[in-house]
Amino acid sequence: MKNRFVYLDNNATSPLDPAVREVFIAALDLYGNPSSMHMFGREVREEVEKARREVARLTGSTPGEIIFTGGGSESNNTVLKSILHPDHPRHRGKIITCSIEHPCVLETVNYLKTLGVPVEIIPVDSHGRIDMEALEAALDDTTALVSVMLANNEIGTIQDLAEIARRAHKYGALVHTDAVQAIGKIPVDVEKLEVDYMSMSAHKLYAPKGIGALYRRKKAPLFPLIHGGHQEEGMRAGTINGPSIIAFGEAARIAGELLEEEHRRLSGYRKRLLDGISALIPEIHINGDPEHVLPNTLDISFFAAEGESILLYLDLEGIAVSTGSACATGSLEPSHVLMATGIDTELAHGSIRFSLGRFNTEEEVDYLLEKLPPIIERIRKMSTVRSREVQN
Ligand SMILES: Cc1ncc(COP(=O)(O)O)c(C=O)c1O
Repeated sequence: MKNRFVYLDNNATSPLDPAVREVFIAALDLYGNPSSMHMFGREVREEVEKARREVARLTGSTPGEIIFTGGGSESNNTVLKSILHPDHPRHRGKIITCSIEHPCVLETVNYLKTLGVPVEIIPVDSHGRIDMEALEAALDDTTALVSVMLANNEIGTIQDLAEIARRAHKYGALVHTDAVQAIGKIPVDVEKLEVDYMSMSAHKLYAPKGIGALYRRKKAPLFPLIHGGHQEEGMRAGTINGPSIIAFGEAARIAGELLEEEHRRLSGYRKRLLDGISALIPEIHINGDPEHVLPNTLDISFFAAEGESILLYLDLEGIAVSTGSACATGSLEPSHVLMATGIDTELAHGSIRFSLGRFNTEEEVDYLLEKLPPIIERIRKMSTVRSREVQN
């Protein structure tokens, strides 16, 4: 196969679905302010409410429980920082979260800690599943909020949220889940998960960036992060981003329609990739849970090969993946997610995340399987030569 472009980084962000793009472009002409009472406002407001119904439908919630926000980070921040409000029933109570959360949760709880809010970080096992005993031990009547992600962005591990919520609710704690990576990939139903809050982001769902939503169970305590106008029931001030919300609604509708079919198709590709890599490349370590895992996510550590080198060589072949380590941003720190699962630093540095999406084909999976083995071999040879040179 000749050189081509293969995007296998759908957990970082997804391309716009052409159908969503069409709706988005058309919505750009609906320039009225949804808060205006005249017809220009009304026509966009109707479309925004339609989008709200679609997001609610995809998540088993009701439209009145959906607040549109500027994305997953904002939704997470809004829930976590609500603890600071004096009217919160467990004002400044303990927050429990877990070690493999996205930085927008971990950095926020670190910030809250500096303000004196008690925070407890629960460890995970080698597959990235939360340690239920540690959770149970941390829970008490002062716990205000338990925040655990539904699916991890790096290793794809899915948590047993219903069980976590049941345990937390026994102590009167509220439960939040960051479902940014789960929505559209696995069935997500807030009733079944028994959560009080759930964060979502449109750009992981083939919709534009900078738009997301927060599910808030009716009457669950919540205080705005952004003050101003009365948009979104006073929970998120600022002129509503009509076109992006409308595109998000269409993306949610499509995701619901394709959920089962895509789950089956991507699970098949993931298996093809995993079987292929296991057969063709020796000395690998699969990160994440073998059973409770997103259908599109495969994270592998390659012994004696730097993740950054693999990424760059694949990039030269037109294949886009991501590495768990943050070297690209100038830091040499290995992924906090992989380190939390207990693998050694060297293996964490040799990890690559393949995240499949709606527009990937079986042919692309095979293209990767053709290009990857010689790349790993070349990198391993170079690192052997280098380590001999260092020894000499
Ligand atoms: C698990 C998880 N939570 C939150 C976010 C942040 O979402 P957003 O980019 O919409 O702020 C991301 C995005 O990378 C994510 O993967």
